[in-house]
Order: sequence, then structure tokens, then C-alpha cells
Amino acid sequence: MKNEKLWGGRFEQSLESWVEEFGASITFDQKMAEFDIKGSIAHAKMLGQTGIIDLVEAETLVKGLEELLAEYHEGKLVFDVTNEDIHMNIEVLLTQKVGAVAGKLHTARSRNDQVATDMHLYLKYHLGDIIERLSHLRHVLVALAEKHVKTIMPGYTHLQHAQPISLGHYFMAYYSMFTRDSERFEFNISHTDISPLGAAALAGTTFPIDRELTAELMGFEAIYTNSLDAVSDRDFIVEFLTNASLLMMHMSRICEELVSWCSNECQYITLSDTFSTGSSIMPQKKNPDMAELIRGKTGRVYGNLFSLLTVMKSLPLAYNKDLQEDKEGMFDTVETISVSIDILAGMLESMTVNEERMLYSTEKDFSNATELADYLATKGIPFRKAHEIVGSLVLECTQSGNFLQDVPLSRYKELSDLIEDDIYDVLQSKTAVERRNSYGGTGFMQVLQQIDQAKTQLTS
Ligand code: ARG
Repeated sequence: MKNEKLWGGRFEQSLESWVEEFGASITFDQKMAEFDIKGSIAHAKMLGQTGIIDLVEAETLVKGLEELLAEYHEGKLVFDVTNEDIHMNIEVLLTQKVGAVAGKLHTARSRNDQVATDMHLYLKYHLGDIIERLSHLRHVLVALAEKHVKTIMPGYTHLQHAQPISLGHYFMAYYSMFTRDSERFEFNISHTDISPLGAAALAGTTFPIDRELTAELMGFEAIYTNSLDAVSDRDFIVEFLTNASLLMMHMSRICEELVSWCSNECQYITLSDTFSTGSSIMPQKKNPDMAELIRGKTGRVYGNLFSLLTVMKSLPLAYNKDLQEDKEGMFDTVETISVSIDILAGMLESMTVNEERMLYSTEKDFSNATELADYLATKGIPFRKAHEIVGSLVLECTQSGNFLQDVPLSRYKELSDLIEDDIYDVLQSKTAVERRNSYGGTGFMQVLQQIDQAKTQLTS
């Protein structure tokens, strides 16, 4: 039985259908259909303009491809697994539309540079989209920070109350992380915005192609300088998956905190009903599922990174079919991080902060102990000595069930006659936060300054 594939000439037999399915990628690479068609339009125009094919034939190809693009947007294109991948599916559909001239489209091109082109176009588009979504999340964080400059919360180290901080300061910490994430995606664009088209199978082509022209028609900034590199480079995807992993790590950290903040133990926030779910057995439950899911999905994004690194590690130059395994992890990561960014932004925007509860929890602890030690140090007592005095007072308080602000002045005077009754103001959480005015600290002035800088950054 003759082999009917586009590449079937040298075969005497056909693939068995289950083997064919194993080799096919159309079930997933159809996500690049739009980019595949756009790449082909650029290639066809170039073939016409360089005289490699007849100008009228090139116009026929372009017109046919444009119709296919419109039909794709209308959801009308039907792909067939026997045509293996998106590239051959489009070519078969084009043949049905314009006839045998469709066979000229693949002149001076290989699926190897074609698939690389599609991936670059796909990722470039989504990098831009992801940066926009991140920008929205960063705006949400800045707005929350602005609203909560003076909201006091316990700052933690080792998950123990450490020193009170401004909730605005906390939000701005995540703003900084997501800003770096955004910058990494920007940099990622510079390695993605490069055209591999024209590298052909691996070695370039004898046809007088114009790679600058196709690059320009597709909107690429640059072209690959080496054809072997062009068809086998997947660094831009590894970079993307790395950047996505870092982003997920940041999102997972804030989600972990949201989960504990809405626990019975903390009650610092109440998530909106629109971002929470219930239990099928326990009627009282309101669960932070969305935050947990973002935390959980971090695992699959890390997995996608490791999967591609492993696919790549022993590949000889140039194209190998292993490279077909570069796609699903990339698509999955794009989809996972895009929706996760939006969910996180929505969850933050719609939650209620229980300000009194946050403040209260900084008043029933010893997170003002540093204030007392600093107070003594300011009066000339060596900090180590001050630390020791306060440490033993904390011990005394834990035994009597008191806090530092409850200790009478007479007792303070026994410890040091340098202590005056202004100590009670110093010990207040709000004062503690307000006075931490060193650059980048949690003091209100500092937080406001961070917010100002962020706003300038977001508008530039
Ligand atoms: N579906 C293939 C892929 O995703 C397209 C390139 C096929 N090239 C080849 N020489 N078989 O990698």
C-alpha cells in the first residue's frame, strides 16, 4: 500500500494508525495554528517578491492562507491526526482550497524552521500578554499598599512574631518580586523576538531567499545568524519556563500566607465568597481553594521546566523529533501562569482585611521587645546589655502573663532609672512601625516613598 503522506515518496508502506498517533502532534500543536498561518503568509510573500515562485502564484497562496486564517478564527478549521502536525494540516487544507499550487509553499522551507518560527511567534505574543497581566497585579498591590500604609500587622521571622510592620510594606515586598518577574519576561522577549525562518532543515537553502523580509513581515526584531542554532535552539523556552517557575514561587508564597491569614488562628483577612468554596460535608466551611490551587500548580510549572531541560540535555545538532516534546509544557505553563496571575489579583482585590484583628495580634505579643532594647541603647546602655535586661523582663512577663506595655513604671525604674514614662508610647505597635524610618524600612514615610517610586515605574 502506497504511503500517502506529504513525505511519503520514499516509503513502500504506511504507518500503523496507533504508531501514527504516537508520532503526531496535531492534538496540541494546533494551539499555534494562527502563528503557523501567519508565518506561511510571510514566507509566501517572500517567495513571490524574490521571484523564487511566480508572483501570481504567491498571491494565490497568500489569499488562500488568509481565508484559512479567517476560517480558523471562526472555529471552522478541522484538523486530522493523519496529517500529523499543524504544519501539514494547514498545507493539506490549503491544497483543498487552492489546488496543486499549494505544493509550492514549502519551497526553501522545512518544518524544522517552520515549527521553530511558530514557537517564537507564539511565545512572543504570550510574553507580552503575561507582562500585561503582571502589570495589573502590580497595580492591585500598589493600590492595596496605599490603602494600608498605616495598617499594622505582625512581621514574622521563623513564623514567630518578630516586629510589627505596615501591611502596605508587606504588599510592596510582593510588588518588588513581581516587578523583577516582569523584567525577566521582558528580557526573555529579546531572546524570543528572533526569526529562525530560512534556516530550512538545518543548513540554509540554495534558493535566493530574503530572511530579513520574512522577519520584517512577521514583526521580528532580528534573525538567527546560524541555521543550526536556529532550528535547534529552545533556550528561549527554557528561559520562559525558568522565569515562570520563579513567578509561581512568588505567587505560591503569597498564597501560602493568604491561606494561613484566613485561618481561624489568624483571621487577618476574609476572602470574598466569589473566590472561595465550601465543603460537601461540613456546612460551616469556607475554603481558600484558589490560593491553594496556585500553590499546587507551582509543582506542574517546575515540572515543565525540568521536563524540557531533560529533553534538551543530550540532543545532538540539529533537529531531533525529541523537540516535539517542547510544546505541551510551554502551552501548559502559559495557560497556568496567565490564569493564576488573574486569580491572585482578583483574590487580593476582593478580600477584606481585618485591620483590628491584625493590630490586636501585635499587642498581645512581645514584638515590641526590640523597641525597649533600642530605647535603652539610645540612652547609652550598650545594646548587648539592653538586650539582656529586656530578655529577662520578657521571661518575667511570660511567667506573670503580662506584656511589656503592662509593666508599671516603678518596675521599669528598678531595671534602669533611665526609663521614663514616654516608654509606653515607644512600646506601641504603631509607634514602632512609624519610627522604622531607615531607607527601605517599614516606617510610613518609607512605605509612601516606595509607593511613589512604584507608581512612576508603572506609568513609564
Ligand atoms: N511536529 C514537529 C515538531 O513539533 C514538526 C517538525 C517536524 N520535523 C521533522 N523533521 N520531522 O517538532
